Amino acid sequence: MDFLEVYSKEVDQGLNIFFDQFKSKKLGVSERTLLKASRYAVTNGGKRIRSVLALLCFELFTDHKVSRAQALKTILSLEFLHTYSLVHDDLPTMDNDTLRRGVPTVWKKYGESTGILVGDMLNSLAFENLAKTSPVFCLQKLVMVLGECSGIEGMIGGQMRDLWFEEKECLPKELLETHRKKTGQLIHASAQFGAILASASEEQLKTLTQYADKIGLAFQIKDDLLDLEGDEASVGKKLGKDIAAKGFIKLFGMETSKKKLSTLIEESVQIADTLKSEKLEQLAIFIQQREK
Ligand code: IPE
Ligand code: IPE
Ligand code: MG
Ligand code: MG
Repeated sequence: MDFLEVYSKEVDQGLNIFFDQFKSKKLGVSERTLLKASRYAVTNGGKRIRSVLALLCFELFTDHKVSRAQALKTILSLEFLHTYSLVHDDLPTMDNDTLRRGVPTVWKKYGESTGILVGDMLNSLAFENLAKTSPVFCLQKLVMVLGECSGIEGMIGGQMRDLWFEEKECLPKELLETHRKKTGQLIHASAQFGAILASASEEQLKTLTQYADKIGLAFQIKDDLLDLEGDEASVGKKLGKDIAAKGFIKLFGMETSKKKLSTLIEESVQIADTLKSEKLEQLAIFIQQREK
């Protein structure tokens, strides 16, 4: 088992422990259903690359003020936020997708209204978990990072751009900005989470976010390539849907896209080298080679 598998299993375990806590709470049947649907959304697969990135950044620079176990608890907020974005993204009024991580999407399995509420709940949970688990010295910073990277200047801003340009001509510059916000900002936040929990220096944080921004864009280009060339069974979602309208490959062409992906990965590996982190190097390579 390589370290990516080990780390993502650890994240899965953390998520399951998190949801187990609710067993002792007094909740009615309707709330239990919401909880079940939320747990389904979060724990049904997922590569966990955001949490893994955060953990790697933490491990690299930690001053040991915060234990790894405590950092992991806080890092789970990234998965709640990310999963909320996927649950809402799949809704009929958004991308109208019925398959995610190889299983029916939340709205398909539990109904559309429950799908909306699951997303809402996970968004709240991300910040609640942050408040409950973050060390006090960095709580405000982490709330700010997660709020900014998921809000209008981040993921949600990117989602709005994505919808906006469905109907309109999109210039390359605009597509890059959409990707940066929609996908890149939460990956950027992940590196920041790790660095902040580690009490890394400004310089270290800057280098880590440079790395994150490169793998963030690479991740989206690879996503577009998988959309075109991937195997639906292993990717676990419906393919061939984004390309015609707005994909990276449509705008830049297949060859340029693949070249851009390779360049971004090479540059990320170089940064990982300067940081002497073999694991960050392997993570970058995984982004390029992933089949799901
Ligand atoms: C999918 O993200 C959505 C995008 C931002 C392109 P991931 O591919 O990281 O999703 P999971 O968590 O592994 O399912
Ligand atoms: C999903 O983007 C990104 C977010 C939810 C922020 P897409 O709609 O392009 O990705 P998939 O194909 O559904 O994973
Ligand atoms: Mg979408
Ligand atoms: Mg989608």
